[in-house]
Amino acid sequence: MSAVQQKFLEHFSFQCGYCTPSFVNATVVLLEKLKRQPVAKDRIESTIMDALNDHICRCTGYVRYYEAVKDLILSTPGLVKDQA
Ligand code: FES
Repeated sequence: MSAVQQKFLEHFSFQCGYCTPSFVNATVVLLEKLKRQPVAKDRIESTIMDALNDHICRCTGYVRYYEAVKDLILSTPGLVKDQA
C-alpha cells in the first residue's frame, strides 16, 4: 500500500471508494510537484484545494480526503517551505 492509500485509510477518507483512485492519483501528482517546489505552510489548504477540486466524490467525503492530504504533506519531509 502506498503512503497516500495508507493516509486515506487512517483518515477514513472514503465511503464507497468509487472516487478513491482519482484522489490517489491527484494526490500523488501533488506530492511530486511539492517535492520540486515546496509549499508555504499558510498555502497548504489552498494548494490542496487547487489540486483536488476537480475530483468528484458522490459520498461527499471531501473534508476527510483534504485532511488526509494535509497530514501527508506535513508529515513528509521537504514538502513544506522552511520559515525564513
Ligand atoms: S467515497 Fe463514494 S464516491 Fe467518493
